[in-house]
Amino acid sequence: MKLCLCATDPSILHCISYHGTGGPGQIAHLAPTYAAVLALSTLGTEEAYNIIDRPKLQSYLMRMKTQEGAFLMHNSGEVDVRGAYCAAVSAILTNVATPDLFDGTPEWIVSCQTYEGGFAGQPGMEAHGGYTFCSVAALVLLGHERLCDVQGLLRWLAMRQMRFEGGFQGRTNKLVDGCYSFWQAGVFPLVHSILTKQEDTALSMDSWMFDQKALQEYVLLCCQNNHGGLIDKPGKARDFYHTCYCLSGLSVAQHFLAGQLREDDVAGDPKNELRPTHPVFNISLQCAHNASHYFGKLPIPTPR
Ligand code: FPP
Ligand code: ZN
Repeated sequence: MKLCLCATDPSILHCISYHGTGGPGQIAHLAPTYAAVLALSTLGTEEAYNIIDRPKLQSYLMRMKTQEGAFLMHNSGEVDVRGAYCAAVSAILTNVATPDLFDGTPEWIVSCQTYEGGFAGQPGMEAHGGYTFCSVAALVLLGHERLCDVQGLLRWLAMRQMRFEGGFQGRTNKLVDGCYSFWQAGVFPLVHSILTKQEDTALSMDSWMFDQKALQEYVLLCCQNNHGGLIDKPGKARDFYHTCYCLSGLSVAQHFLAGQLREDDVAGDPKNELRPTHPVFNISLQCAHNASHYFGKLPIPTPR
């Protein structure tokens, strides 16, 4: 059975068993497309990789692209930086990106950086952690991270860690939330790699530029549900979204430069240690490497 991650065209519906969307029978959407590519990469078998119809994925991504270089989340849907990130992850990991696919995209993403230093979903809107991760990760994937104001970004980012709680808020004057443990803290490794390339002498060689212990304590002490799963903040219900991003952020806070774990880097019991997560794809380093290697050997499909 082929899982088509992209088919919205009724003329090809007869030849697929599934739409690669939020669920069977729904229209294609960039967020579940990206999630499906990463889930299949995490499964990591050839059978899983081969489920992806790469030529159709490529033509779907092309159809979602706007004249400005941005991406619609779905046919006639909203345009925001999530689209650029989901498209970049899906195309680059599966090796279907042509030079045309991301022409103008880095410049459009950079137009979303605000006077505060973080990135908004669209030009002129408010800076937010979710959009900031998507923007910076997409710029890194596309190799154009130098276009952004990294000092302004770092200043905004550092100010989002809450002095009392130790967790992060998503935007200025809002409340702490466990999911920003990844959307905000996950940007520090990206900033670190940008500053390393720029040979910035003020760069810490000891830790990410946030309080890693305080974030771990927020996640471990305030975001665990007694019955399993993780949460936004005490009193909130558990869900898969907060479970994923609290754990991803906890992993970032435990591992400065993956593979170089030092004594005391992990808060609490050493058994709390998680595996390092890939800074751009947020799946395990090994799964990201294996998928890139597998798809990298296949030719880029010729656009139809
Ligand atoms: C505000 O919610 C939330 C947003 C404006 C969007 C957040 C975007 C993401 C989490 C990125 C998603 C990424 C992908 C790849 C799909 P709110 O007003 O309820 O929360 P707040 O008070 O914390 O800002
Ligand atoms: Zn949240």
